[in-house]
Amino acid sequence: MWTGLLDKYRAYLPVTDKTPNITLHEGNTPLVKLDNFVRQEVGLDLNVYVKFEGLNPTGSFKDRGMFLAISKAAEAGSQAVICASTGNTSASAAAYAARAGLKCFVLIPDGNIALGKLSQAMIHGAKVLAIDGNFDDALAAVKEISQKYPVTLVNSLNPFRIEGQKTGAFEISEQLGRAPDYHFVPVGNAGNITAYWQGYQEWQSAGQIQGLPRLMGFQAAGAAPIVDGQPIKDPRTIATAIKIGNPASWRRAEAARDESHGVIEKVTDAQITAAQIALAAREGIFCEPASAASIAGLLKKAKEGIFQQGDTAVCVLTGHGLKDPDRAIAVAPPVSKTSADVQEIAELIGL
Ligand code: F0G
Repeated sequence: MWTGLLDKYRAYLPVTDKTPNITLHEGNTPLVKLDNFVRQEVGLDLNVYVKFEGLNPTGSFKDRGMFLAISKAAEAGSQAVICASTGNTSASAAAYAARAGLKCFVLIPDGNIALGKLSQAMIHGAKVLAIDGNFDDALAAVKEISQKYPVTLVNSLNPFRIEGQKTGAFEISEQLGRAPDYHFVPVGNAGNITAYWQGYQEWQSAGQIQGLPRLMGFQAAGAAPIVDGQPIKDPRTIATAIKIGNPASWRRAEAARDESHGVIEKVTDAQITAAQIALAAREGIFCEPASAASIAGLLKKAKEGIFQQGDTAVCVLTGHGLKDPDRAIAVAPPVSKTSADVQEIAELIGL
């Protein structure tokens, strides 16, 4: 029986016998091969897989790091945790804090987080504060609060978040039986690309894999500070999860890019949306917009001709599509209204 990341990867995590295991049995997400989509879109004999992190307990990859951040906060005797969030971190923090019996405070940019994520933070009993400002403003505030008051920061500046998230690289390597040639990942606050690079390097040092992947990070075009080389005051993108103008792990993301001989580039909202729809409609996999940035990135690089026949690429689908139902309804083909008349229905569906 799968019982979560601590039981599986204890030897590689910064825990002791005293660390409680606050788990929702996170991890062990499927690595699914894309068949239809790759043949049609890429036109190459590529092995493309998606790591469907939307199937974690709260619907995003955040659970990998949050289980550990909350377990360590509980071990240290903390009574409360706080985070800024574009939505998924707050959903995960709220759930794990509830399980640990800790108070949870979350700051979100008012009007800019997807409905599913907001509902999660609320139902798990977090105190949700919608601030008049963007994610970067919220992050600055929670950093200061965690320094001044007895409350533990659980954004990815908390090193235990990165330590937990690195297990994604372990799992992918185990599922493939090797490291992929390319690892595509959306970049927002840049914790995940940092964690994956650390994870692949540790797994190599542990003798579990030989080679290392190139890390291919993708930001949304209107929120691409790392690509543009400067913070963005007013980031814009439909992919609200990665609507971030001044990422906390900026330098570490650049190090991951450079050390792995990868790239950090941008994809447009139109490319992100097209990738989200294609994945859902042709492969049956529903991810949220930010996650589709990894697929959009793969398609962009395929068009540029970087791949060779037989290469293996993994795209991380960081969050489930149900997180942002408004967006899906806005971009999908419309619903048709009809009476219950069989003739009318048959005509409508072309029978
Ligand atoms: N994809 C999704 C679905 C996310 O929620 C995030 C980040 C990212 C990608 C980017 O990952 O920040 O490690 O580079 N969401 C954070 C949050 C910022 O508050 O939920 P990153």
